Amino acid sequence: MCCCGGLALLYLLALGFLQSRALQVEVKDDANKTCIYATLMVNFTVSYETNASEKNMSFTLPNDVTLDKSICGNESVGSLLWLHFGSGHSWSLNFTRNATAYRGSAIKFTYNLSDSNLFPDAKRNGTITTVSNVELPPPVPLNTMYTCNSEDVVIATDVVQRLWGVRLQAFVVNGTLSSNASQCEADAPVTPVVPVSTTYTPTAAPTIDEPITGNYSISSGSLVCLLATMGLQLNVSQTSNKTSWITINIDPSNTYVTGTCDNKTATLRLNSSNRFLSFVFVVRNSNFYLKEVNVSLPSFVNGSAFSDGNGNLSYWETSLGSSYMCHSEQRLQITDAFLLNTFNLRVQPFRVTSGKFSTAEECFADFDLGFLIPIAVGIALGFLVILVFISYLIGRKKSHTGYQSV
Ligand SMILES: *[C@@H]1O[C@H](CO)[C@@H](O)[C@H](O)[C@H]1NC(C)=O
Ligand SMILES: *[C@@H]1O[C@H](CO)[C@@H](O)[C@H](O)[C@H]1NC(C)=O
Ligand SMILES: *[C@@H]1O[C@H](CO)[C@@H](O)[C@H](O)[C@H]1NC(C)=O
Ligand SMILES: *[C@@H]1O[C@H](CO)[C@@H](O)[C@H](O)[C@H]1NC(C)=O
Ligand SMILES: *[C@@H]1O[C@H](CO)[C@@H](O)[C@H](O)[C@H]1NC(C)=O
Ligand SMILES: *[C@@H]1O[C@H](CO)[C@@H](O)[C@H](O)[C@H]1NC(C)=O
Ligand SMILES: *[C@@H]1O[C@H](CO)[C@@H](O)[C@H](O)[C@H]1NC(C)=O
Ligand SMILES: *[C@@H]1O[C@H](CO)[C@@H](O)[C@H](O)[C@H]1NC(C)=O
Ligand SMILES: *[C@@H]1O[C@H](CO)[C@@H](O)[C@H](O)[C@H]1NC(C)=O
Ligand SMILES: *[C@@H]1O[C@H](CO)[C@@H](O)[C@H](O)[C@H]1NC(C)=O
Ligand SMILES: *[C@@H]1O[C@H](CO)[C@@H](O)[C@H](O)[C@H]1NC(C)=O
Ligand SMILES: *[C@@H]1O[C@H](CO)[C@@H](O)[C@H](O)[C@H]1NC(C)=O
Repeated sequence: MCCCGGLALLYLLALGFLQSRALQVEVKDDANKTCIYATLMVNFTVSYETNASEKNMSFTLPNDVTLDKSICGNESVGSLLWLHFGSGHSWSLNFTRNATAYRGSAIKFTYNLSDSNLFPDAKRNGTITTVSNVELPPPVPLNTMYTCNSEDVVIATDVVQRLWGVRLQAFVVNGTLSSNASQCEADAPVTPVVPVSTTYTPTAAPTIDEPITGNYSISSGSLVCLLATMGLQLNVSQTSNKTSWITINIDPSNTYVTGTCDNKTATLRLNSSNRFLSFVFVVRNSNFYLKEVNVSLPSFVNGSAFSDGNGNLSYWETSLGSSYMCHSEQRLQITDAFLLNTFNLRVQPFRVTSGKFSTAEECFADFDLGFLIPIAVGIALGFLVILVFISYLIGRKKSHTGYQSV
């Protein structure tokens, strides 16, 4: 009981952290099985009249919604996601399906001008409904999650809606969210490659390939403020007794990058095929270090989500103004159910100048014996040369003195 609560809290924290203000909803059928799943963020801008002038009001779809009158649907009856919020406002999206695919067809937004919190001094009162025909999602194979981080703008009379951070599945089969994702075109500039994923137990040698090294950067204004080059591999425990582990390589060509930088904290968030991974770096005295890592896998084992993270880490400590480098494989323990392996790592979350890495401070593992032997031999030879030279000088001085005394 306590553990369930803890996990749920972690999950909420992770979600809240990864997608600020993202709304997550699930519509359930009579058997209490999920039939529509959605996470999304919507910004509304509504223009309305006051006695004096026209006003534009912007607000975000709140997290506090009810799902009354939502419909699960089936092959003959459409499905409806209907969110009610605030004082008489609502937003809905309806879906149709055939034997192989489903798609969204219309967004209906109803707003209540009598709500003086949202629409102060409105001249009109009562509700107004706008309907926009959309292809959101466009046809998606059944039993597939649709994902779209990019912004989608829906325009109707007096209303502009901006949608982003969308993860959506309607007509969910048997209450189990799909592990297959279909990404919107805007998110996928490169043809997606299916990431490798295999199962192994920690005692067995990993059979999975090394992950591809990705180059990630975050800009603040027009200036690059965070740089990271790394191959990433997640090791996640499937069971509470930690006997079965799953390894997932992050495919950089299929990864959407966001983040923030300021002088004391920098965040890098990766969304790779609907898997969320985030890093938080902070400044401590004249160093920076990796303080927090979070992961969220929407559909893991039997469709259940996995979220985990640790905000109390202390890895990769490096002087400000330098980058941290580790070519060797590093295995970072994040929690007892989540390990992060890094390859060909170089990261600089602060004080990036002209979009380039500064000098690197390298991890100890990179200095293996093979690397040290030539150095040791070099130092020994150097000493030998100096010794010979000194004895030569002493010898010369002695003979010189000897000559003078004669
Ligand atoms: C559905 O499941 C939730 C928890 O999973 C439970 O709280 C609720 O009572 C269930 N409802 C029905 C009608 O079975
Ligand atoms: C309100 O928004 C509309 C459309 O974006 C714009 O044309 C109009 O000028 C705005 N009005 C005000 C008062 O900002
Ligand atoms: C959404 O609206 C909020 C304020 O209501 C604003 O701060 C934010 O930048 C907007 N985001 C987008 C993507 O339009
Ligand atoms: C679809 O759902 C409607 C209403 O819930 C129901 O009357 C109908 O029998 C269902 N059709 C199928 C094929 O399940
Ligand atoms: C979706 O909603 C629109 C607008 O209300 C309506 O015209 C359309 O028939 C609906 N589609 C389904 C499948 O219910
Ligand atoms: C609209 O808002 C007003 C004021 O908050 C409220 O009294 C009214 O019931 C709302 N209308 C609907 C349809 O909920
Ligand atoms: C289902 O819809 C998709 C997309 O609209 C279409 O490509 C496909 O041919 C349809 N399948 C059937 C069996 O009607
Ligand atoms: C707007 O004008 C009408 C009549 O001109 C008046 O009754 C109403 O109180 C005014 N509303 C506001 C918000 O000033
Ligand atoms: C809405 O406006 C009508 C007339 O314009 C008025 O009779 C009615 O009382 C108003 N309702 C509210 C809730 O303000
Ligand atoms: C749905 O899941 C239940 C239990 O998980 C299983 O017994 C049943 O066979 C499944 N049905 C389908 C159609 O997959
Ligand atoms: C671990 O848990 C799994 C499923 O939860 C179970 O099949 C397995 O037997 C367990 N192993 C041990 C060693 O308890
Ligand atoms: C961040 O650092 C830059 C230069 O290092 C400085 O100009 C700026 O004022 C600082 N900003 C804050 C919020 O401390």
